[in-house]
Amino acid sequence: MGHIIQLTGLSGAGKTTLSNALLEWGNQQQIKIKLIDGDVYRQTLCKDLGFSKADRLENIARLGAYAASIAADYDYVFIAAINPYEEARHALNAKYGAALIWLKCDIQALIARDPKGLYRKALLPDTHPDKIHNLTGLNDTFEEPQYPDLVLDTGSLDVEESVSKTVSFLCQLSSLRISGSASKSSAE
Ligand code: ADX
Repeated sequence: MGHIIQLTGLSGAGKTTLSNALLEWGNQQQIKIKLIDGDVYRQTLCKDLGFSKADRLENIARLGAYAASIAADYDYVFIAAINPYEEARHALNAKYGAALIWLKCDIQALIARDPKGLYRKALLPDTHPDKIHNLTGLNDTFEEPQYPDLVLDTGSLDVEESVSKTVSFLCQLSSLRISGSASKSSAE
């Protein structure tokens, strides 16, 4: 059974970039990785959902259920979504043992990067027709994870450093499971 790992963080914090680098690492190492990217699944499985709290919770619940349904076929399944509520993160941990990696990045750095132009739109005057009124981190909630398994400061780490820290974490996860099952079987 593969590990499910939640990559949480604001838009532009580097979730997709890190995920793609991890996919490449997986290919090289013959480690099977599946990426469930929030942006992609909002076009399919979660197409009917918006950005209210209820919809964001439902979005993560669906992504978690999908991850669990395919986890047997992979070593690691990553859920890369903003995932702004502790409630949703805890639910995935309680149900599926999903770990949590927080890609932490200063909001000023995100506003400066703004690859999708979302922060610019959220900063428009209230009356502007293009204004985004519920952008996570600016004018909508992002609850800082209280118990992340790993924090990556993507404002100061480059992609290689983030990959290397994540790979060490993945190895730790797998060795914990192996030693857990070894001690379990030796106790039987
Ligand atoms: S989540 O909050 O429900 O976890 P998810 O990761 O699936 O969000 O989708 C976030 C993506 O939707 C962003 O990368 C961005 O491209 C887009 N988006 C559009 N509107 C918003 C918004 N108001 N807040 C956050 N992301 C938004």
